[in-house]
Amino acid sequence: MKRWPSTISTRWRRGNRCTLFRGDCSELLGKLPPNSVDLVLTSPPYCIGKAYENKTQASDFETDHEAIIPEIIRAVRVGGSVCWQVGYHVTNGVVTPLDFIVYEIMSRFPEMRLRNRIMWTFGHGLHAAERFSGRHETLLWFTKGERYEFNLDDVRVAQKYPGKKHYKGEKKGAYSGNPLGKNPSDVWQGCDVWDIPNVKAKHVEKTDHPCQFPVGFALRAIKALTKPDDLVLDPFVGSGTTAVAAILARRRFVGAEILAKFHKIAIVRAEAAARGHIRFRPAELPVYVPPKNTTLTVRPRTWNESKKS
Ligand SMILES: C[S@@+](CC[C@H](N)C(=O)[O-])C[C@H]1O[C@@H](n2cnc3c(N)ncnc32)[C@H](O)[C@@H]1O
Repeated sequence: MKRWPSTISTRWRRGNRCTLFRGDCSELLGKLPPNSVDLVLTSPPYCIGKAYENKTQASDFETDHEAIIPEIIRAVRVGGSVCWQVGYHVTNGVVTPLDFIVYEIMSRFPEMRLRNRIMWTFGHGLHAAERFSGRHETLLWFTKGERYEFNLDDVRVAQKYPGKKHYKGEKKGAYSGNPLGKNPSDVWQGCDVWDIPNVKAKHVEKTDHPCQFPVGFALRAIKALTKPDDLVLDPFVGSGTTAVAAILARRRFVGAEILAKFHKIAIVRAEAAARGHIRFRPAELPVYVPPKNTTLTVRPRTWNESKKS
């Protein structure tokens, strides 16, 4: 892979290729000129008491977002995009979809238009006992204004049945699919063939950060919504996944991370990406299907005596 042209900076300057600011994102946002960012892609703290959070209420999430969203909208150019990835807040078994809160605040700004509410589904996570186990989160994609960038051909995925043909009409007998692949849809498990699994213990991208999103996930948004050399912003950098994806896609990047230990991880990953040494799972990798009749896939004999599981 080709070496990226410049190093990682920790102080924001307009000409930087990649800035990983260590500190509060509101300080970074204050330095960014208005209308300077092409895409914001982030996953904010959910205020669910994670190790990096001191807030635990959905109302904290709302208050924080009321402060940051106007700053984000100011920084994004007209025609740019804002992608906000969130899950659920759960208190005493009561679930609040955090994207409802984001949508409500974003809707106060008439220039912001929701283009997709993407379901990101995955196969692994905590097992709930008193409700169905959570296996999806959402990505809200807004544009600032009416016209926007959308490079569908850069993110198409292979069809399940590429040999399918029209069976009637003028095109009867001709292949019905697009040779470049199909639209990945607003459900990002991709489709039945491709998968974007969440970053759990054995994932090649796993770092010490507790809530990474995968590089393949960020790459899809960046490739679809920006051009090479455009500026991508992630105000909540975490382990630096958005920076890595931006570098791989040859976009410029700016982001902030408040905690030193995650900021260090982000720098190491961004440098590895710039050198072409980063390990990541492309979204186009086929889903692993375990072979039949292994100890992993066969129902344990002792279970046959118990009720259906
Ligand atoms: C959900 S994580 C982001 C994970 C990231 N998408 C990744 O793939 O690694 C949110 C991150 O925001 C950081 N953070 C929280 N408040 C912040 C603030 N005010 N400014 C900058 N970073 C903040 C947290 O330390 C945490 O690492």
